[in-house]
Amino acid sequence: MAGGKPPEHTAHDSAQPLAQQGAAWLRGYAGLPLPRDLNWAWTLGAMLVAVLVLMLMTGLVLTLGYTPDAGLAFGSVEALERRFPYGWLMRGLHMTGASFCMLVLYGHILRGLYYRCYLATHQRVWLGGCGLMALLMVTAFAGYVLPWGQMSYWGADVASKAVGAIPVLGPELEGIFLGGSSPGTPTLHRMFTLHFLLAFVIVGGVVLHVAMVHGRGSSSPSGRTMRDVGSLPFHPYFTVRDMLAVVVLALAFVLVLCFWPGLIIEPANYRPANPLHTPADIEPAWYFLPFYGMMQVIPSRLFGMVLSGGAVAILFAVPWLDKGRAGQGATGVGRVAAFVALACLVGGAVLVAAAGRHHVAGGWLLAGRLGCALYYAYFLLFLPLRSRMAGEGA
Ligand code: HEM
Repeated sequence: MAGGKPPEHTAHDSAQPLAQQGAAWLRGYAGLPLPRDLNWAWTLGAMLVAVLVLMLMTGLVLTLGYTPDAGLAFGSVEALERRFPYGWLMRGLHMTGASFCMLVLYGHILRGLYYRCYLATHQRVWLGGCGLMALLMVTAFAGYVLPWGQMSYWGADVASKAVGAIPVLGPELEGIFLGGSSPGTPTLHRMFTLHFLLAFVIVGGVVLHVAMVHGRGSSSPSGRTMRDVGSLPFHPYFTVRDMLAVVVLALAFVLVLCFWPGLIIEPANYRPANPLHTPADIEPAWYFLPFYGMMQVIPSRLFGMVLSGGAVAILFAVPWLDKGRAGQGATGVGRVAAFVALACLVGGAVLVAAAGRHHVAGGWLLAGRLGCALYYAYFLLFLPLRSRMAGEGA
């Protein structure tokens, strides 16, 4: 329209700089160079983000009908399932989502361990990730208490006694956790607040985590620098792969949700909490079983707690246990050793989890101890030896 009226200023124009900035940021983000040899294990982060978004959305809907009161909580969850529009679906998605979230999280951590994504430049990303994992675990535990079924009640009881076993501060902390002498309405209020609040803290933490990864660039699975292996822009090469991975995960999710819900749901939690009846088998959700097993492999509540808490805490020490230098991924002989060691770590965790399910007595006690030893051996024996095995100078 050459020679026409000068363009009029509109509200849309005043928003332009912001829109332009946003577009520039998106372009920069889409063009982010990543090592061209990144494999499928690098899609686990995107899968985690997708599951977390689902958890947040379904969780917010569920809070509309939930009542954190010992006398009403179980009934409110039943009502959510039966009378709230699509409540059954929201709850199913949220429960299945919790399991998938932990499954993908464990996969993400194993990827990091195998490819040594914790060395030098990624040390802080790793430590932040460990913090996120701790927060996710507390959030998942608090969420498990909320439906106030038998497992919720007795799980809270076991956890409070474990906290109470901490020397000096234990009884005080137990009181703060329970809000009384046994699990009840004050406990539910605490768990509900914690569950709700931490969800948002985790969202903030994830934004920071991803920003840090993108600030430093991803590691290459080969351990070489991006200059050596070459790079590709994040979009479309990795976004498309991330999306495909999320779709495959969604399919698996729907299959479990619709055809195999018993894999995730604990039937005993469909019985209302009864403080007068201790169930024969008190057990946590599957993703806590290894830590639950570790609490029992030693005939001391305090040392059981140390073993169990230490199994998570030791992840924070990983960058110092493996003295490799930046740019040393899983390569050569080290790659085979790393695979075997990781298989032992996972095998150990499964063994101690199975022992935890079987009350850690008789043969299971032995199996639990072996599993626990295998788990710790990965961190305390293999990691310090890893750089030497691969012939790397520290
Ligand atoms: C809520 C939990 C988490 C979310 C949503 C998340 C998300 C992500 C995303 C999107 C990436 C970039 C893509 C990828 O490399 O897969 C990433 C990378 C990374 N994450 Fe996480 N993560 C979480 C927890 C953790 C945990 C628990 C750890 C370790 C203990 C961890 C350690 C790392 C590391 C080291 C990288 C960089 C990988 C590289 O070197 O390229 N993250 N994460």
